[in-house]
Amino acid sequence: MTATASAQTDARDLFTELTGAVPAGSWSAPGRVNLIGEHTDYNDGFVFPFAIDARTVAAVGVRDDRRIRVISTFDPVPVEVALADLDGLFPAHRDEIVEWARYPLGVAWALQDAARAAGRDPRSLGGVDIALASAVPVGAGLSSSAAIEGATATALNDVWGLELSPVALARAGRRAENDAVGAPTGIMDQMASMLGRADAGIFLDCRSLEAEVVDLGFTRAGLEVLVVDTRVSHAHSTGGYGERRAACERGARIMGVPALRDLTPADLDRARELMDDVTFRRVRHVVTEDQRVLDAVRLLRAEGPRSIGGLLDASHASMRDNFEISTPELDLAVDTARTAGAVGARMTGGGFGGAAIALVDHARVAEVAAAVEAAFAAAGFGAPHVFTVHPSDGAHRDR
Ligand code: GLA
Repeated sequence: MTATASAQTDARDLFTELTGAVPAGSWSAPGRVNLIGEHTDYNDGFVFPFAIDARTVAAVGVRDDRRIRVISTFDPVPVEVALADLDGLFPAHRDEIVEWARYPLGVAWALQDAARAAGRDPRSLGGVDIALASAVPVGAGLSSSAAIEGATATALNDVWGLELSPVALARAGRRAENDAVGAPTGIMDQMASMLGRADAGIFLDCRSLEAEVVDLGFTRAGLEVLVVDTRVSHAHSTGGYGERRAACERGARIMGVPALRDLTPADLDRARELMDDVTFRRVRHVVTEDQRVLDAVRLLRAEGPRSIGGLLDASHASMRDNFEISTPELDLAVDTARTAGAVGARMTGGGFGGAAIALVDHARVAEVAAAVEAAFAAAGFGAPHVFTVHPSDGAHRDR
């Protein structure tokens, strides 16, 4: 049984334990790997992620009152709130809710608001029970949080008859993450989880939210995406992520543009003169990374996936040296994978831990994985979790 199939069974079983009934349905949404375009989303720039074949499942049933109860395999204690109280909880009193439950409750809060904005009386939205189980590893930089948000949003959209678009559901997920959880993230993860397609990446303009589905052709080219979860876990609601974001906003202000998206590599000489070295290097990362995304999509279309290896490597070097969000474990994973024959490799996600990805020939996967494991052991690092992922479909109803 795959991890996602187990999550499907677990979510339904958990729902039945909680309520004594069978769920009305179950919905699921995937985690994501970002192929390239890191820390560009909240700078209104470009990203190129894909949804992965590991999903979070929400088994959902309606109640005859106006309360919402959530339970998950992360925590045996359910959390229950009146729908009418969600507005009072988020964002001001979010600390009263245990952290994992802020994701699904935050989505319910954001969707209730979206329903109100669309002219619907929130009192017409009925109570729900939601049981969550996830096959997306938590803290690995594969966006287990967007998977929870996507599964919950897709379920509530159907159960409440909201008829919101996938982009609107992604926005509700980001709002949950920003205001209910308190992590100042962009919208890449939610968009990838909502819009993913088998064998394809989502080329997204984070300013217009226009998304193009781009064929990746990995299977045809005999390539696999290997994930090295360093098991050094990260949290974006604390510290470094917010600092990086603030440095980017400072850089844009100094350059007199609305967002770093509005600069090109030709502006970097001027930027260097106008700002301190740290801010400049943050800006240089984002500006060159936006360009790498555009180059990657163009090259992929023209020459196929083997042609993007150098861009993956350059992206990693920039995150290590300019943005300074890599870790010794991520650097070792990337360097070892490259030396062992990967076409390209980079850390993926927000950084400060989490996972690296490597684009590897199908025939070399075992060799590259073994090389990374051996290098971690030799360096005295904890054993990484190494596995392959496949570009997969976004959020949907399962049954
Ligand atoms: C996290 C955030 C995203 C994005 C990445 C970095 O995954 O959730 O919005 O900013 O980090 O690219």
